[in-house]
Amino acid sequence: PSASSSDATNKPSAPPRTSRLRGFYKLSIEERLAEVQRFAGLNEDEVAALRGVDSERLNQANRMIENVAGLFHLPVGFGANFQIDGRDVLVPMVIEEPSVVAACSNAARLLRSGDGIITDATAPEMIGQIQLCDVPDVEAARAAILANSDRLVGLANEGHPRLMARGGGARSIEARIIAESEIGPMLIVHIVVDVCDAMGANLVNSMAERLAEECETLTGGSAYLRILSNLADRCLIRAVGRVHVDQLARPGLGYSGRDVAIRIERASVFAEVDPYRAATHNKGIMNGIDAFLLATGQDWRAVEAGAHAYAAQNGHYSAMATGRVEGDELVGRIEVPMQVGIVGGVTKVHPVVKVLLKVVNASTATDIGRIAASVGLAQNMAAIMALATEGIQRGHMSLHARNIAAAVGAKGSEIDRVVAEMIRRSSISHDSAAEVLRDTQGARLPASGKVPPLSIEELRQVRDTHWPAIENLIADLLPRPDKASEGQLALSRVFWYQLGTGGKRLRAVIPLVVYKAFGGDPADAVPLAAAIEVLHNATLVHKDAADRLRQRRGHDTAWVRFGQDQAVTAGDAMLF
Ligand code: MEV
Repeated sequence: PSASSSDATNKPSAPPRTSRLRGFYKLSIEERLAEVQRFAGLNEDEVAALRGVDSERLNQANRMIENVAGLFHLPVGFGANFQIDGRDVLVPMVIEEPSVVAACSNAARLLRSGDGIITDATAPEMIGQIQLCDVPDVEAARAAILANSDRLVGLANEGHPRLMARGGGARSIEARIIAESEIGPMLIVHIVVDVCDAMGANLVNSMAERLAEECETLTGGSAYLRILSNLADRCLIRAVGRVHVDQLARPGLGYSGRDVAIRIERASVFAEVDPYRAATHNKGIMNGIDAFLLATGQDWRAVEAGAHAYAAQNGHYSAMATGRVEGDELVGRIEVPMQVGIVGGVTKVHPVVKVLLKVVNASTATDIGRIAASVGLAQNMAAIMALATEGIQRGHMSLHARNIAAAVGAKGSEIDRVVAEMIRRSSISHDSAAEVLRDTQGARLPASGKVPPLSIEELRQVRDTHWPAIENLIADLLPRPDKASEGQLALSRVFWYQLGTGGKRLRAVIPLVVYKAFGGDPADAVPLAAAIEVLHNATLVHKDAADRLRQRRGHDTAWVRFGQDQAVTAGDAMLF
């Protein structure tokens, strides 16, 4: 508030909010929650939402990261239909964005019609980097490192007997000269490590730290950073999937299967040559990959970083996945670095991750990588197939629209009504949802909150105004019998006899007054009114025959007049 405002001078000023919370990490979870509550002015319900339902879960979370004061829930969905290297896989995905799970399940269904998705993997080798600065002679230093590479590999492996026993360990040493930089030349030593089933960060970091001193001795430089590289270009997964073009046909949109395949190829080439498009193309791929990685407790930020860096490796940021028409097939391909693990990290700690890993049933880290790449491939195929045909908004936004409808307060069946109306208006936004909700609620109840009763007079007036149009419409479809046909037992004779017995025509009037109440023109409801009146009379013809009722509205019933067989058959015809 401004200093001159009278409010500000009258009210005692609240203590300034500060995020400088001394010893926050030493507090219990409940104490931390209380601090967060104070800071943000949360009410008890909001604190309860943060706390989650299960206090043991909160304790488990407290062992995972620092300063825990809450749990955050995200949906777990399952990507269906995946067949990867001949094995059926149900793919758990944790994601907040609607349509991702549906889209990749759809593409996986198409892809399994061929051989499914086939993958190929390099050894799971990660790179650790040692940055050496102030090296007197970088060329000589590089030669010294390479000359001692076996010794350095041995030294790196010394501390990791279990990794060696599993067939992993440091494999080789490389040295790269960065000749020019703001801080002068640098020598970068790489240690390449087969990390087996671990993601490898801890292993590689500890090896890099272990070798740093020896590298300094060999080069005369000073070691600075000692850390793995997330550009994991020795730990690659390739996946390929094929779909017969006929499977892609969208006759409703006027596209043959080959048309769709060609459109997908064009979308792919666009992303391959234009970084602006590539970023979005790749974002779609990572929608699938990240959701699976999150579900299986992987360091998805590492994979993100590596995937984007790899997509720019030849100096031009490009598409991670491509699509090509080859003969009668659309062939999708993806190549991504995959730094993932099934040991370490939260894989054995997070209770939901443990269950989801059981669903995935991966026996090696590379299996996780193969699935991740496959989900990325399927996700991309689904996204560009939609983009290249009907556009993304219809499917994507109709799911998104449900969230928006709920967010503006629609409940139960109201959500469907609001979504349908937003789609009809081609306007999906919070404002639009709120407006539709107001309109539909307004239409249901007048401002007074009371529905005024309809008078008999009003009903009669509506009937008398519109009945001639209803009768004319029926007569267009089923002409009145003429004199010449008298004596013949034609359907129209039974029908028009039945209709001529009169009645209030209330069934026809109801749709007319409902239309009117919602602000419509009752004339537009004439076909519906006609249909309902015929349907109603069909039930009367059958009922009178079944009940042996001889008179209705002061006239013989139809079966009395025309016989049981004719009445039942005419009633059937009226139903049709
Ligand atoms: C939206 O989350 C992802 C897409 O934009 C991906 C793409 O454009 O390929 C649909």
